[in-house]
Amino acid sequence: MQEAGILGLGCYLPPKKITNSDLEKMVDTSDQWIVSRTGIKERRMAEADVASSDLGVEASKIAIKDAGLKPENIDLIITATITPDKAFPATACIIQDKIGAKNAAAFDINAACSGFVFGMIIAQQFVNTGMYNCILVVGTEKLTSIVDWQDRSTCVLFGDGAGACVVGKSKDKKILSSFMGADGSGGHLLSVPAGGSRLPATDDTVKKRLHFLKMEGNEVFKIAVRIMVDAANQAIKKSGLELNDIKLFIPHQANIRILLAVAKRLGLPKEKIFMNIERYGNISAASTAIALVEASQEKRIKKGDNVVLVAFGGGLTYGAAVIRW
Ligand code: ACO
Repeated sequence: MQEAGILGLGCYLPPKKITNSDLEKMVDTSDQWIVSRTGIKERRMAEADVASSDLGVEASKIAIKDAGLKPENIDLIITATITPDKAFPATACIIQDKIGAKNAAAFDINAACSGFVFGMIIAQQFVNTGMYNCILVVGTEKLTSIVDWQDRSTCVLFGDGAGACVVGKSKDKKILSSFMGADGSGGHLLSVPAGGSRLPATDDTVKKRLHFLKMEGNEVFKIAVRIMVDAANQAIKKSGLELNDIKLFIPHQANIRILLAVAKRLGLPKEKIFMNIERYGNISAASTAIALVEASQEKRIKKGDNVVLVAFGGGLTYGAAVIRW
């Protein structure tokens, strides 16, 4: 088996910021409510003519350069997104074309907020078996395109952005272990009801605002804490390490209260949990990727440190990976 590790990282956030005071002008909310209930102060919003592939392209270029590679060296592109440019072709194929990765196969995965962690684990398998040596994993979202700007319970939570990594044959930044899970019985808790084959677009679905993201926040909250803790523990156990051996947890950035509850359940100080939710909100598949890039840029992880990526999201899906930096 070939060992798989991270060869390069990159992220891209569109420049436009939407602050809580901007949202106060749009819906019945307040900065105080949003900060105290979610920890979010601002989020990014891509311009109208920018799609998820455009954000992903920017992050991908940085990750490929960081790996010291050229786009032609990429064997496979896995894009994780719930906001693809179109139902098809896959956003991964659009990215492949735009960056000129002409030797790469490409496909999308839909695992909502767990998408980047799932993508990294899939990439690890291809490297382990020796089928591919350089795989680009991209988490990219334009969530502001599916947010209902009349629904205060969801529109304050989400933002846009992209993160990418190149996974390849490496002993450095090695993926030691991983864990993935799903519970489809919770699918109704988080979804975009219309626009698929169950409810194709009609005047009625548009009138009923069924093309926007719906969420039963309270229910998701309770499940999130339990499954993030479980996923992290499963991956750590498989790596042969103990909780104390982990330098930093890099979780999906859904809600600061979820992250603090996870820290409490694991018995960890909050300093061991990486957080950037204050600046970006929840960017679904891109969240964990961007957090990993920033944790590395901010030198929160040094050579030899063990880190855990852990995520949960719509599906429901959940997963974790242990990486030795
Ligand atoms: N501003 C002001 N008041 C609000 C707002 C708002 N933006 N949103 C809701 N409220 C009100 C509600 O109407 C409710 O009022 P009521 O008591 O008069 O009925 C009150 O605030 C409390 O509402 P709750 O829903 O109970 O608030 P809660 O503390 O649960 O916070 C939140 C809501 C932030 C959504 C939380 O439940 C949460 O973070 N859930 C998890 C979401 C998540 O993690 N999603 C991740 C997956 S995303 C993906 O996969 C794409």
